[in-house]
Amino acid sequence: MSFLNFDSCVFMAPMAGITDAPWRKILSSLGGGNLISEMAAVNAIQRQNPKSYQIANVKDESYPVVVQLVGNDAELFSEAVKLVADLGAKSIDINMGCPVKKIVNNNSGSALMKDMVLASQIIEAAVKASKLKVSVKFRKGWDNEHVNAVPFAKMCEESGAAYLTVHGRTRSQGYSGKADWDIIKQVKENVKIPVIGNGDIDSPQKAKEMMLQSGVDGVMIGRAMLGNPWLLNRVHCFLQNGVETASPTVAGIKKMLLKHLHLLVDYYGEKAGMAISRKHVGWYVKSLYEAKKFREQYNKINSLADAEEVIEKYFTEIES
Ligand SMILES: Cc1cc2nc3c(=O)[nH]c(=O)nc-3n(C[C@H](O)[C@H](O)[C@H](O)COP(=O)(O)O)c2cc1C
Repeated sequence: MSFLNFDSCVFMAPMAGITDAPWRKILSSLGGGNLISEMAAVNAIQRQNPKSYQIANVKDESYPVVVQLVGNDAELFSEAVKLVADLGAKSIDINMGCPVKKIVNNNSGSALMKDMVLASQIIEAAVKASKLKVSVKFRKGWDNEHVNAVPFAKMCEESGAAYLTVHGRTRSQGYSGKADWDIIKQVKENVKIPVIGNGDIDSPQKAKEMMLQSGVDGVMIGRAMLGNPWLLNRVHCFLQNGVETASPTVAGIKKMLLKHLHLLVDYYGEKAGMAISRKHVGWYVKSLYEAKKFREQYNKINSLADAEEVIEKYFTEIES
């Protein structure tokens, strides 16, 4: 991917509510792989909505961040791209794959797969707005009766996209069922720009399998990274040098969980940081002893000091 100026062919998937600045700080400390923001709505950025503005502002981050935008209006995209470029984005990704009702009802996300004319206008406007590269992330199609990833990919290429990411599920599948890697292969075979494959990668071996099966230029990993930030670098090392790095130890999990908790509290403040930490803590411990009981206890806690105490106690019990 050096021609696109990315350090790695492994990409963290954008995940709303998860791939925030604290999460990226953790991943950057582990190395390997490309980082992306949560999606930010173009109209909200325009209004300088504080939450969206915070998502899009990556100026102070010491590593490159792709910023993802979502919306349905070419002119607003043009404005948003200029703003996001000023806010430090390394490149721009356009979300044309989100299945969430609130987004598709607004003719955004995967709804744009049903309106190729508008999708094309949006991509062209985003490309024209700055010197940054613009990529598009989309799905197999709207549903099984409307599988159009290949013509959609060609349209993206003609409209000026620098690379594409294809999630091998339709909008109506959401996140269920198995991702169709064959459609990803078909997209790769039908465009000249780089293609990143996405869907169901949960190990370095599976990433390699996707590369071999579909011929893609890179892979993107989503849900398997929840509570498992190490995976991005493990996949990167395996694809780069065939090196298999070990999964984290229990002590390593505890250290990471505490680090993540502190980053969340520093970034969001204690109240919001503690609330956000609950889902992450649940994911970190999910395969450990009596995880459910610990999670229930943790979810009742509101202060950092109490959180540190129960985490210490839980891990001492496991490790003894
Ligand atoms: C909680 C959650 C939030 C997501 N948010 C976004 C998003 O903001 N933008 C986007 O393009 N995709 C989003 N996705 C989709 C992922 O980027 C990815 O395409 C999907 O999870 C499939 O990859 P996986 O099988 O590796 O998880 C989200 C997925 C999840 C589970």
